[in-house]
Amino acid sequence: MTPEELHQFIMELSLIDFTLGVATALGLISLSKLIFGAVRFVWSNSLRPPKDLAKTYGSWALITGGANGIGQALSFQLASKGLNLIILDRDQAQLETATKMLHEEFGTRVEVRGIAVDLNRLKKDDIIKAIREGIEGLDVGILINNAGVAYMYPTFLHEVTPDVVESLLNVNAGAATWATMAVLPSMMRRKRGAIVNIGSASAHVLDAYPLVSIYGATKAYVEHFSKSTSVEYKRYGIDVQCQAPIFVATKMTRRRKGSLLVPTPKTWSEASVRWIGYDEVCVPYWPHYVLSLMGKFLPSLILNWYFMRLNLHLRDLYSKKVNGASRAEDSKKNP
Ligand SMILES: NC(=O)c1ccc[n+]([C@@H]2O[C@H](COP(=O)([O-])OP(=O)(O)OC[C@H]3O[C@@H](n4cnc5c(N)ncnc54)[C@H](OP(=O)(O)O)[C@@H]3O)[C@@H](O)[C@H]2O)c1
Repeated sequence: MTPEELHQFIMELSLIDFTLGVATALGLISLSKLIFGAVRFVWSNSLRPPKDLAKTYGSWALITGGANGIGQALSFQLASKGLNLIILDRDQAQLETATKMLHEEFGTRVEVRGIAVDLNRLKKDDIIKAIREGIEGLDVGILINNAGVAYMYPTFLHEVTPDVVESLLNVNAGAATWATMAVLPSMMRRKRGAIVNIGSASAHVLDAYPLVSIYGATKAYVEHFSKSTSVEYKRYGIDVQCQAPIFVATKMTRRRKGSLLVPTPKTWSEASVRWIGYDEVCVPYWPHYVLSLMGKFLPSLILNWYFMRLNLHLRDLYSKKVNGASRAEDSKKNP
């Protein structure tokens, strides 16, 4: 068809033909997006081969908050892939227990070192210094910024104590930044590295997380920080990624038993390590992946209404429990 013929054809199209044409084109685009999404889902959640982490990035991994919960499960996963570990956590006794458990499981195949640092109390250059001293001379190829704190239960902003606000900012946002700054120079020298920041679906999927506002905001920081540093450091061979879990059964969520939608840290971390080195932002573990797609599809108005109601309910439930317990404690002390 010549350009003149095409012009003539367009001029002669009726409104009905035009509307049908546009509708068909939009339908085809939606269908191909759906097919592409389904193929991507299957590929990235099960068929895509995980990276050989030690070979691609280096033989040591540093995990913050690695003595408990998701961090501990990740350290077992990474050890099973042949990586040596540096675990950073705030409590020396918990670090020793975690190290013992790793040695019982992997024997001398895996070296484990600990860095005892309270990421809330130590500040900026002191965190950088403690980490640099702890990793000196080691080929640290992977950093997992996992340490995190949350609210005891959902609360209005004016009810949160300044200490809790400070610890959320220091541990969730600050520590991830300082730890990243601590490892970057050695990764840049080696021209390889992976930095995995544990974000949250509360920021990745939701537009608002009412009554848990500072937690959600720190996780939004983590995600944006990851996206920007991913672009900045690609040229140095460093892959930065933000992983966004929904709920995982840890002490943070006060759940011990796992389920399909709230997996154990072990189940979640098996999925997590398969994603390292791929997408900038991802939702590992396929049921979470499906839920996050559904969440992104729903209008914010509905999600905001639902989470406000849910968190108000949890606030009332837990505040009654906590206040009841403290009243009982007071009456024991002053009968
Ligand atoms: N569990 C979930 O449903 C969920 C969902 C989305 C995102 N996440 C994120 O996943 C990460 C891990 O959470 P988790 O569920 O495994 O929580 P967790 O069981 O409470 O573990 C958090 C770890 O971070 C350590 N940590 C906390 N404050 C620290 C500090 N000031 N200095 C050094 N270490 C500190 C904790 O040490 P202690 O044991 O001494 O407290 C613990 O080892 C967090 O970033 C969290 O926000 C979790």
